[in-house]
Amino acid sequence: PRDARYDSEGRITLGRVAVTDIADRYGTPAYVLDEAEVRARCRAYRKAFPRARIYYAGKALLTKAVAEWVSAEGLSIDVCSTGELAVALTAGVDPQRIILHGTGKSRDELEAGVRAGVGRIVIDSLSEIALLSTQLNRPQAVLLRLTPGIDVHGHPAVRTGVLDQKFGLPLGSADAAEAVRRILEQPLLQLAGLHCHLGSQIYDPDHYGEAVRRLIAEMAWIRRDHGHLITELDVGGGHAVAYRPGDAELNVAELADILDDALDAACARHRFPRPVLAMEPGRAIVARAGVTLYRVMSVKQVEGASTFVTVDGGMNDNLRVALYGAHYEAVVANRRPHGPQRTVTVAGRYCEAGDILARDIRLPVDLHPGDLLAVPCTGAYHHSLSASYNCVGRPPVIAVRDGYARELVRRETIADLLARDIGG
Ligand code: LLP
Repeated sequence: PRDARYDSEGRITLGRVAVTDIADRYGTPAYVLDEAEVRARCRAYRKAFPRARIYYAGKALLTKAVAEWVSAEGLSIDVCSTGELAVALTAGVDPQRIILHGTGKSRDELEAGVRAGVGRIVIDSLSEIALLSTQLNRPQAVLLRLTPGIDVHGHPAVRTGVLDQKFGLPLGSADAAEAVRRILEQPLLQLAGLHCHLGSQIYDPDHYGEAVRRLIAEMAWIRRDHGHLITELDVGGGHAVAYRPGDAELNVAELADILDDALDAACARHRFPRPVLAMEPGRAIVARAGVTLYRVMSVKQVEGASTFVTVDGGMNDNLRVALYGAHYEAVVANRRPHGPQRTVTVAGRYCEAGDILARDIRLPVDLHPGDLLAVPCTGAYHHSLSASYNCVGRPPVIAVRDGYARELVRRETIADLLARDIGG
């Protein structure tokens, strides 16, 4: 977060709260979230895209408080399950400002969305059109998700814009044409927009410009073939953030210019009225607002090999290293580090050799059990991807703001874990 710093006693503070106080009060590992940072990111998007609808992608991190913050800052919310929908509704988010996503949505999920009165449902397959139709007793605005075939060169696990993947229907395919036909012939479905999501950690804003060109051309075809005017264009999320100092990130102001130019040019070319632009940033809103705190449990120098710093968390709270080969930094948080450093691997506590948090990073030679480590940029896809492997409960989410810390999500206890195991 922008206001992370060492205080006069050498401890890192976040939101003007010393991380040592958070660790003492709530234990470790703990996810710490800087409320001011989340809100500032929301405002930056509103400022960069004053005419667009910004849906915060809840899959990055959704708690009731986060849903409240982002909607208070004027963002709408993208949910992709009945569970996420329930969190947003419980937080008091206006259903009209919710978009329901998901590949393989169940009847129950579609029913829950329709019953809640969500503003938009994104159609991901032909079979979903029929299933959704059975749930309707009043008009429902939908977007059709298309894959524009743009390869943004991400990690294979998160490449969604290319043709050979499970989401949406390929742009220009017979299935996509059939989906348009079926939606238009169902009187209670209103085809409000087209949608695409190009992938994750996209640095180059030109990919979004290309998506706009391809989707506006498609909208022009739909108008020509069916006489139906589509008025919204949702270009999904995927805006890259810097996980470590020096990493690249997507420049939001530059993205705004490119989207604006692409929309103007494509709409002029096809003599098409400018649709309302929508987007779904998740990571870019919350990633940098989060820091995970760990306690060092042991420092082990393996002869002729690496030095392992083992902490009290790991792959359960940060799956991204094992899943995507993601890179993080870790810093000493309870005292200002000084003296010589050495290259170490920060390892987790779970029973897997692949449970590593950071490989070959520099930490002080005098690091010892009891020290606190802080891993920055852990606000997105950490809590939301967390697990309870080895029967270890998930960490709490602690919000900091103006010198105060408060618990948003409490630590998962052994009692919580046992409560689900009903014997038999
Ligand atoms: N919209 C749709 C339809 C999506 O599928 C996603 C992410 C987003 C928006 C938000 O993308 P963002 O702006 O947060 O990149 N667990 C992976 C990321 C998976 C993203 C899945 N979909 C990771 O930790 O990198």
